[in-house]
Amino acid sequence: MQEKSEATSFLPLNVPLRDGRHVLVREITEDDKAGLLAAFDRLSADARYARFMAAMQQLPEAMLEQATHPSAEREFALVALAAEGKASAIVGGARYAAAPGSDTCEFAVTVADDWHRLGLASRLLGTLIDIARSRGYQCMEGYVLSSNTGMRRLARHFGFADVACPDDATLRVVTLALQACG
Ligand SMILES: CC(C)(COP(=O)(O)OP(=O)(O)OC[C@H]1O[C@@H](n2cnc3c(N)ncnc32)[C@H](O)[C@@H]1OP(=O)(O)O)[C@@H](O)C(=O)NCCC(=O)NCCS
Repeated sequence: MQEKSEATSFLPLNVPLRDGRHVLVREITEDDKAGLLAAFDRLSADARYARFMAAMQQLPEAMLEQATHPSAEREFALVALAAEGKASAIVGGARYAAAPGSDTCEFAVTVADDWHRLGLASRLLGTLIDIARSRGYQCMEGYVLSSNTGMRRLARHFGFADVACPDDATLRVVTLALQACG
């Protein structure tokens, strides 16, 4: 097993989208709680279900706390911010997390409903894959609703294998090898 690399800091990116708008992609910080709550409130019920696999009315404080305090060793999280008047709003996010000692990390990605099909999730997931690879992870995986055509197609674009989840017929497991073999 390849040694995991020291985490290097991630420099914010100015990302152009398909419609000509730009977003700023940067690491999440502890100051993003209010922005994340606002982003969650704007998500449709379908998008919430697709992301959390549960009907969620609110983002529990414990999840918010965890989301804004990723473990430096085992987790990494990005947010995408768009200008809204004089302020900015979180319009997308992506994260991975690994169990202690594991060389596999699990990803999740979410984009605000009114920012879909602009290439934002592609950019977030591509960046997340690059980071996980550079930090020595061997494999990235995700659990996706079988009905989530968009996420499954996006994962296939990046070369993820897409197989049935052995424990749950409503889910697929998408898996990507991050390091070249041999
Ligand atoms: C799935 C999701 C992240 C895609 O975000 P997005 O920013 O719209 O995705 P992109 O614009 O980068 O799309 C990239 C490709 O994925 C595929 N895709 C994305 N959404 C799709 C959809 N609704 N239907 C079909 N294909 C879709 C397409 O091939 C697309 O390329 P194209 O637009 O050139 O055809 C977004 O729909 C979302 O946040 N859904 C709710 C939360 C969720 O399901 N998260 C995944 C759980 S891990």
